[in-house]
Amino acid sequence: MSQILLIEADDTLRKIIKLNLMKSIGCDVIEKQTAKDAISLLQILPDIDLVISREIIGTENTGLTIANYLEKEASAIPLLIIGNKISTYNHVIAVEANQSWKNITNVACKVLGVVIDPDVNRIVADYVPVGIHYFLNITSTSSIGCDVYIRVKKNEKEFQFVKRLHSKDMFSRADILKYKESGLKEFYISKEHFTKFVNFVTAELVAQLGRAKLEGVDRALLSSEAYEVTLDRIHSLGIDDLTIELVKESIYSMESSLQEKNNLAIFLKTLKANPLSCAYAHSYLCCLILHKVVAHFDWESVQVKEKLTYAAYFHDISLKDISFMEINAIKELENSKLSEEDKKIVNNHALLSSAIVERFPNIPAGVITIIKEHHGSKSGIGFPEILSISITPISMMFIVVEHFVDEFLKIKGTPSSDDLKKIFLMLGKRYNKVTYQQTFVALQNMTQHKKKQVS
Ligand SMILES: [Fe+2]
Ligand SMILES: [Fe+2]
Repeated sequence: MSQILLIEADDTLRKIIKLNLMKSIGCDVIEKQTAKDAISLLQILPDIDLVISREIIGTENTGLTIANYLEKEASAIPLLIIGNKISTYNHVIAVEANQSWKNITNVACKVLGVVIDPDVNRIVADYVPVGIHYFLNITSTSSIGCDVYIRVKKNEKEFQFVKRLHSKDMFSRADILKYKESGLKEFYISKEHFTKFVNFVTAELVAQLGRAKLEGVDRALLSSEAYEVTLDRIHSLGIDDLTIELVKESIYSMESSLQEKNNLAIFLKTLKANPLSCAYAHSYLCCLILHKVVAHFDWESVQVKEKLTYAAYFHDISLKDISFMEINAIKELENSKLSEEDKKIVNNHALLSSAIVERFPNIPAGVITIIKEHHGSKSGIGFPEILSISITPISMMFIVVEHFVDEFLKIKGTPSSDDLKKIFLMLGKRYNKVTYQQTFVALQNMTQHKKKQVS
């Protein structure tokens, strides 16, 4: 999905431009009110599609500051300034400061390659990007009559769309992987087809995940691709029947993978050879290790394992960006280059995830509490430095295992015994009381293949 960064201090005008851009282009619009906040965002999202900025906000030369930043970074992001063209940056376009929101939206559409009908001055055909992973598990789009395009640069300031897959064409996973290997991240489809297309792919994924024969690397890959679609659906289309169905099949598939012999070896093999979704890898490995660790406790049961599976699947579901998921401590959050708005989302993400999960039917009792407490605070807000003993023991177990998984996934290549020793040294210092410590001991025993019950 295209992303536009909009810097405008006037609340009403900002909301109107945002709504119209979202409606016409189907894009994601991130709002900022100062050059500083906008630059912080550009540092973490350097591939944004367009920046729209007011030339002067208060006493700040906002447009110029942003143009200078983009020029210094040798960026090619188009910058649409509402005001005067005041910079030497090659990709600046300006509209007069007194232009209506309609004109600003139209110029933005033009820059992004959206076609406008000149007679009625209305958008008649536009295209929305869809991640390439949507095409990996389908072989044609004929049932919804949807042509597929790529976006190419027409000139310095405009894009055009070139049809790549006709709606009647058949294609294979290998064909799509070739596009992916060449660096293509997104195809484009017409805006009218978007919901139908996403629903079509979702239904296909649901059917494929339910195939009993699916196993090993194939199941892991499909589950990872389905997880990405689930995240997209929750954040763009919301929680509807198909999202619920996809989540149900994804969790069932995760459980089937856990039943397979050598599940950890299969996962590591898949991870080594394929670009798995980082969010899925994190959730799946948490789930797998939690199931192994809980076997060392005398409160292991089918119900507890089910709770852990749901909690592992959903705990970070409110975060769209993997870089947000990597923040696990208050200092990391404070030192991050995220905007104040995003910092707030990360700080509250445990609570936000629990609120999303509350909207799904048939969630096992206790899952919402684990999700809320998975960074150690009862309220689901913040990253307490001191370990709380007032949260539930199962949440304590989750916290230790997640920390282990985070450290484990940071290791490049095959983990050595020295790598594991370093992780355990770090974890042993921190997790030295009640269930935290028992989980730590169980984790160590697990890696040394010892069977020991703790209560
Ligand atoms: Fe997490
Ligand atoms: Fe988290």
